[in-house]
Amino acid sequence: TTFDFAVIPGDGIGPEVIAEARRILQAVLDSASVEATWTEYSLGASHWKDTGETLSEETLERLRGHDAILFGAVGADPQDTRVPSGLIERELLLKLRFSLDHSINLRPARTYPGTATPLAGDPEIDFVVVREGTEGPYVGNGGTIRRGTAHELATEVSLNTAHGVRRVVADAFARAERRRGRLTLVHKHNVLTHAGDLWRRTVEAAAAEHPAVSWDYMHVDAATIHMVQDPGRFDVIVTDNLFGDILTDLAAAVTGGIGLAASGSINAEGTAPSMFEPVHGSAPDIAGQQIADPTAAVLSGALMLQHLGLTEAASRLEQAVHAQLAAWAEEPEGSRGLSTAQRGEAILSRLG
Ligand code: NAI
Ligand code: MG
Repeated sequence: TTFDFAVIPGDGIGPEVIAEARRILQAVLDSASVEATWTEYSLGASHWKDTGETLSEETLERLRGHDAILFGAVGADPQDTRVPSGLIERELLLKLRFSLDHSINLRPARTYPGTATPLAGDPEIDFVVVREGTEGPYVGNGGTIRRGTAHELATEVSLNTAHGVRRVVADAFARAERRRGRLTLVHKHNVLTHAGDLWRRTVEAAAAEHPAVSWDYMHVDAATIHMVQDPGRFDVIVTDNLFGDILTDLAAAVTGGIGLAASGSINAEGTAPSMFEPVHGSAPDIAGQQIADPTAAVLSGALMLQHLGLTEAASRLEQAVHAQLAAWAEEPEGSRGLSTAQRGEAILSRLG
């Protein structure tokens, strides 16, 4: 079989880090004798400035045909007043997420050799947050009446469907089974009783089908404390869209470093391609200088291989990244001042 990848390098450092990720992915695939084709799509703020396209129906249809999408970062320099604020987020990023039904936002949170966490004792951290991606309070299910008056009333109603919760919970249990067999449901079911009840019953039902996984429940406020004081206790966290948004940022902060954070936007049913991208943005402050760290993009590529069932290639790639980070940790002089391409080259050389 040939894997048919779409690549959206995007803006700023997006194309710089994606070039390295692609080169390294190609090498891993070559050595596994896996054939791959890559189709590059020009999208993002600078593409919009050139053409007026954010994401046309035609481009969306073509993207649907691929096995997976590797994504860099999009977004203009906030100083650039020619690009309306929020346009690219709404009409490209959110449109991709909803059109391709990316119901699961996957965020591994882990430390690597040499990563300095802001936590006491620099603990080793290795958990993954499985965040629901298309429901919850983020669906625009609300309204305002008597706007601007002293009696204004605004609602923002969280939407939770049995189908939506079940597919995320099923994914989380499957991941826990492949990992250390522990799952934590994070919610606030003592006060958000209706949605909390649905999440809890769904987890209980899934737990009955996955006896190898042990699970516990944590209120979201307690989870923020544990994530800082004892992050080693987590393996897989499953949670809704809003709590997941906040917890994943906290997780990135405690693991110490945006330069290493990878993510996947997963279509749970496989009805459209999933998308893999570094958590960081287009970094206009360092764009064009070839100094961006490509590691997060490379690790996003590893998530993509994993998702497609190319497990061995994915772990070879991860091991190469680990080996190189460990080498740099031992000899920090060796990593200072390296260009984006030199960092990519170093990881490539570890593939062996
Ligand atoms: P950012 O992540 O682009 O940059 C934040 C800081 O981290 C900057 O100082 C940057 O130089 C540094 N940084 C980021 N990635 C790095 C890397 N790989 N190596 C070394 N340093 C790195 O976030 P910011 O500045 O808030 O946003 C810039 C633009 O990116 C905006 O237009 C924003 O909307 C967009 N953005 C896009 C995202 C996406 O495409 N999914 C996600 C986040 C922001
Ligand atoms: Mg966020």
